[in-house]
Amino acid sequence: MSWKVLITASGFGQSGQHALEILRQAGCQTIIPAKSGPLTASEITGLLPEIDAVLASLDDYSGTVLGSPAASSLKIIARWGVGYDAIDVPAATQNGIVVTYTPGMLDEAVADYAFALLLCLARRVHEGHTAMREGRWKIDWGNDVAGRTLGIIGCGRIGTAVARRASGFAMRLLAYNRTPKPEAEKLGVKFVSLDELLAESDFISIHAALTPETRGMIGEAQFRMMKPGAFLINTARGALVDESALVKSLFEQRIAGAALDVFATEPLPADSPLRATPHLLLSPHQASSSRQTGERVSNTAAKAIVDLMHGRQPENVLNPDVFKTPQLRVKLGPS
Ligand code: DGY
Repeated sequence: MSWKVLITASGFGQSGQHALEILRQAGCQTIIPAKSGPLTASEITGLLPEIDAVLASLDDYSGTVLGSPAASSLKIIARWGVGYDAIDVPAATQNGIVVTYTPGMLDEAVADYAFALLLCLARRVHEGHTAMREGRWKIDWGNDVAGRTLGIIGCGRIGTAVARRASGFAMRLLAYNRTPKPEAEKLGVKFVSLDELLAESDFISIHAALTPETRGMIGEAQFRMMKPGAFLINTARGALVDESALVKSLFEQRIAGAALDVFATEPLPADSPLRATPHLLLSPHQASSSRQTGERVSNTAAKAIVDLMHGRQPENVLNPDVFKTPQLRVKLGPS
């Protein structure tokens, strides 16, 4: 049996060497498009005909895409990563398509990066670097980290990994989450309301999933609640923050600065106002782009595809109900 596997995950180029072998040795035909993800609905629809599996970026897998004739051969979306907000999972189930992801594998890499951004903002590392590159010598005074308050919005696995780092830096820790997490509490994290977190934090790091409820959760009203000296860091999803409200707050110096690794539209358009906003550190959604982590994620996603191709239930299935539906597009059992 040979499956056609489309690979849109942009991290795959750097981290997918071994995963490619896993797929090819299993007899899969791999297709790597000229443009890697995230792909728009029309871009991904154009590539899907005759494809059995996608090793997926944050491409638009809406109900319309998944229900289209172009997707009629698709059996699995193996998401390279942990966020699945771009996939209509119920629509995948209805169409008999299995969806897998790689939970827990990116926690440390993303937490490292979020903390790196926090340290850069606090000590203005990026500003010193830019000045030196431009031939200047100008000392930028920063802010202490030890003893300051970090507010973590969304304290699941990644938020807790950030708390672990911050506790080593002697920070006071607050978090806002649907439910308190005992593991984070053991690190000294105090669970509070969002308003309290916004009012008390010197640094705010976002680690919430993007859902209809959390979309735009940090808007104009929330920026007004933050301290004038506060720094915001977002390595989760761009659409959690109202970007126009952030631009306004930074121009009006209502907060001290921000660092964004994620954007409502990715790649960030060249003419985005964010690119010209002061006190804003930008990076291109690379918090999870760490070589060793990337290799593990690529291998895991590839293995999920091979498992399903051989009639085995893969690990980390987001829609296990799909295995009970008559629409399931694979036959389980030995191939
Ligand atoms: C994730 O895992 O969702 C990261 O944002 C990389 O796509």
